[in-house]
Amino acid sequence: MTTANKKFMIVGNWKMNPETLEEAKELFAALTKKAAASKKAIAMIAPSSTFIQALSAKKSTIIIGAQDVARESKGAFTGSVSAKAVKSVGAKFAIIGHSEKRAEGDTDEIVAKKVGQAIEAGLEVILCVGEKERDEQAKYLRVIRDQILVVFASVKDKKKLSTIAIAYEPVWKIGAQTAMIPSEVHEMSIYIKKVVGEALGNKAGLKTPVLYGGSVTHENAHGILTEGSVDGLLIGRQSLEAEAFGTILSYADSI
Ligand code: PGA
Repeated sequence: MTTANKKFMIVGNWKMNPETLEEAKELFAALTKKAAASKKAIAMIAPSSTFIQALSAKKSTIIIGAQDVARESKGAFTGSVSAKAVKSVGAKFAIIGHSEKRAEGDTDEIVAKKVGQAIEAGLEVILCVGEKERDEQAKYLRVIRDQILVVFASVKDKKKLSTIAIAYEPVWKIGAQTAMIPSEVHEMSIYIKKVVGEALGNKAGLKTPVLYGGSVTHENAHGILTEGSVDGLLIGRQSLEAEAFGTILSYADSI
């Protein structure tokens, strides 16, 4: 993924919404209209995996991806959906390591395996990292560092690491009332690029896109994009609202 010309990645994570394919198509059509107006911002949506095929078949500038992939490529893994399977029905990227999957048991090692599968299948990766809580000794920085470096160390083809974007999502800000303030987002973005630099060298670290996620709204998105030193946003609830998502896209387009 590239950030040349400051092209912001505006990524919607629909989670387990909406409830039916019909509703998903309706919402996608509304978002497609909003995305059509934006020239610079890259609009991306990760719907439920069952909707990927139908939505990626629609004419739209929105890029479709998956919310997760299996840690293995095939076999006896009831209920799992492989990276190759989602790629074969139109997914172009995968969100991996979301805190809601980590809460179900995805460790850094499992996340690393999933990233490997996604890369192998030719998907771009949005790796989610973020601390559950803050502590005065700043141990949370170590948590984030491990979340990044365990994955980066596990990818064999180092050239492929440039296809990874990192979404910083402080878990305590997901589904919350307010987002993190832009100056704090700025600090974390710089820190994350520095950590990536440890694995890839400083130049590549600086180039790695860092997104912010956690209670992004049409009211706080502009500040985070202009002052947060981020390359995009990962948006939950407001990606289900065409008006709000459209407003965020228009900001990303005009900065
Ligand atoms: P939220 O979700 O925007 O609803 O807080 C963000 C996320 O979980 O990616």
